[in-house]
Amino acid sequence: MIKNDVHIITDQEKLNLLVEFGKQVASETNLDNLLLLTAKQITKIIGAKRCMIFIRDEQRGELWSKIARGKGLRYTEIHLPIKGNSIAAYCARTGETINLPDVYADGRFSKELDLITGFKTNSLLAVPLTNKEGKAVGVFQLNNKTDNTPFDKRDEGLLKLMSNLASGNIEIAQLYEEVKLSNLETIYRLAITAEYRDQQDTKVHLLNISHICEEVSKSLGLSAKDVENIRDASLLHDIGKVAIPDHILLKPGKLTPDEYSTMKTHTTYGGRILKGAKSKILETAYRMSLYHHERFDGSGYPFGLKGEDIPLEARIVSVADVFDALCMSRVYKKAWAVETAYDYMLEQAGTEFDPQIIEAFKKAYPNIAKLYSGVETAVKNAA
Ligand code: C2E
Ligand code: SIN
Ligand code: SIN
Ligand code: FE
Repeated sequence: MIKNDVHIITDQEKLNLLVEFGKQVASETNLDNLLLLTAKQITKIIGAKRCMIFIRDEQRGELWSKIARGKGLRYTEIHLPIKGNSIAAYCARTGETINLPDVYADGRFSKELDLITGFKTNSLLAVPLTNKEGKAVGVFQLNNKTDNTPFDKRDEGLLKLMSNLASGNIEIAQLYEEVKLSNLETIYRLAITAEYRDQQDTKVHLLNISHICEEVSKSLGLSAKDVENIRDASLLHDIGKVAIPDHILLKPGKLTPDEYSTMKTHTTYGGRILKGAKSKILETAYRMSLYHHERFDGSGYPFGLKGEDIPLEARIVSVADVFDALCMSRVYKKAWAVETAYDYMLEQAGTEFDPQIIEAFKKAYPNIAKLYSGVETAVKNAA
């Protein structure tokens, strides 16, 4: 006899878990976290060997397993054609709950996944994840109940209830992620457009700067949200360069004083472009682009602001910008050795840069230096 050592939870415990689940789900806007949380709770409350959450991808005409927990599933992303033969697809097409005590006796079940993962599905419970319009935007699927009995009416009810609790929020989180991603893509493209004229390796420069901003902000102890915001906004710090004529921006030598004055207006142009922006990321980018050439001792431009009058984001991006500019070659200068650039940054603490930010830069330096390990040898070999 197989001894059943699974703890069967009581109705009261289930109810408590459900209430807790409702609260957690309502406060989570990150889609990945939300789905993982949902899968964990479902497995706990109903008790199944496998839990999968499929998301409908209309463009590709498929369901894909955003979350797949259980034996053999760790590295498997499952893709099922919506029009094809599978229980999940049938559930998505019809919006019906499907509860099968013996899947192999049902013509709709496709055995392939069992064959690949070495898992024998016996019972299966699938409920649609429906949006406000009643359309199935995904499927919750459980395979094999932990106590080896078929899923019953109560399990069906529980899974439907949990799917309803989660669905509203899943949709919101999905929209939220999409908007975030498309925003970031737009910003990145915009930034490259602004800067591609003055360096072939603008992409590298921008990514280096955002990486340094991220590391420095983390080591300053800012919250994860602020770190992300500063990292992404930094892509736009030089957006004002769109307004600088080619003969100045691309001049392969030293600028005349007049040309340099024109060059300096890339800060105020950037400010004009981004002024009044409502999103947090563009607001941050506004302060970065306007103030990133201010210096801590008040000798910078465009306003000669001093110390903490310079917004924190701008003090951070200025450290990242100058360090990366020194390490890379420009039309007007050769690349410095990374060690020389590092020493320069430390020397300028209190004059050009905020000493607190230089401290954070020092602490984060092991992670920052990784970006330049290739550059260093290239410079040495060239010398
Ligand atoms: P960038 O090339 O991205 O440089 C950003 C900042 O890094 C510079 O701001 C400066 O603070 C620092 N930096 C870059 N190279 C050096 C260097 O060799 N020594 C030192 N001590 N610091 C350096 P800055 O000077 O306000 O320049 C702003 C932008 O103006 C530069 O951005 C670049 O696009 C342009 N620029 C500045 N000087 C020249 C030049 O002589 N010729 C040309 N063609 N462009 C220049
Ligand atoms: C199916 O739903 O028929 C295939 C996926 C699975 O084995 O759960
Ligand atoms: C932010 O505005 O993104 C947070 C950093 C700050 O305190 O300025
Ligand atoms: Fe700049």
